[in-house]
Order: sequence, then C-alpha cells, then structure tokens
Amino acid sequence: MKPQDIIAAKRSSLWIFGYGSLVWKPDFKYKRSKVGYIQGYKRRFWHGDNFHRGSDELLARVVTLIPEDDASTWGVAFEVSGAQVEAALEYLNVREAVHGGYNTEMVVFHPEDGGPAVQALLYIATTDNPMYMGPAAPEEIGARIAVCEGRTGHNLEYLLRLATFMRTSCPHVDDQHLFAVEAAALAMVSYMLETQ
Ligand code: SIN
Repeated sequence: MKPQDIIAAKRSSLWIFGYGSLVWKPDFKYKRSKVGYIQGYKRRFWHGDNFHRGSDELLARVVTLIPEDDASTWGVAFEVSGAQVEAALEYLNVREAVHGGYNTEMVVFHPEDGGPAVQALLYIATTDNPMYMGPAAPEEIGARIAVCEGRTGHNLEYLLRLATFMRTSCPHVDDQHLFAVEAAALAMVSYMLETQ
C-alpha cells in the first residue's frame, strides 16, 4: 500500500519501520515505538545520498535494505495514530522520498517484546535507483563516510548514531556489516587526524 493510498483510506493507525536515521531521529509525532526486526532483508550502506549527508560532488553512503531470504534487520517501529498518520507520511515523503530517493514497501515487523507481529511501512531504495552505489569493501565505505557532509549533517554522525543504537538497544545482535564500516570509518578519521 502506498502512502497516498494510506492517507486516502484515512487509516486510524499505522506502523512505520525505521532501520537508518529514523531509529534515533524520527522527528514525527507517534503514539509508541518498539524495537524489533523484519525478516528477509539485510541492511547495507549501498545507497547514495546527495542531500542529507552528501552532495552532488561527493555522494554519501547511507543504508538501504537488500532482499536476502535468511537475513533479518533490527530497528524501531513507530505507531502513528489519528492525525499523526497523515502528518508523519507527509513529513517522511519529503525526507525519505523527495530528498532520499526511497520508495515504500509493507513488511511484517516482529517486536522484541513478544507482542504480535504487525504490518509496517518502510522506506527502501532499490538497486535500480539512480543513486544506488552498490557493494564495496568496508574500508572503501568507511573512507567515504569519514569525509562526506550534507545539509542535514555529517555522514559520520549518521553511521555512529546507528551503530550506537544497535549496541545499546539490540546488544545481542552482531550487525557485522555495520560494525565493520564503523571500524573502518573511525580508522580513517584517526589517520586523517594524525596526518593533517
Ligand atoms: C534519512 O532519514 O534517510 C535522512 C535523514 C538523515 O540523514 O538524518
């Protein structure tokens, strides 16, 4: 279901799943949030960004979801209700679709608290997106993140806040890609400080 159809249907409640900056900065009003996971996707720094964390001259590396049967991705689902539904979707359309290049999909979200699984909307950038950058070694991704900045902030902030969320809210999850990119970015920052 597309956001415009959800608004047109005047839904009284909607869950929105975040796995990138939404986990630490939703910036829309919501009724409650739950940590949990979705199945069938892995999180990767494979999407390019020329607005929030990068520029046309130097695309930032931000996360998207790549389908993979055995994978799961942890994040936060936010429940919006009443007038919050339309307000959140309008806000996210600008932030995620217009400026980020993300499309939407409905997925099944599994809360960590053992409550029932719910349908949730998420924002995803696919491999046919013009801003798609694709796979690269953690060192290459980390080096890019160490130097990119956009209108919302530094690419490093985006990475470090996501890694901190995973460490504090999902300590039992070993997100190897995320932590390898974090280590590589921090190594690059150290190198830059030593050699400046
Ligand atoms: C996003 O939500 O994808 C962009 C916002 C940010 O980088 O803080």
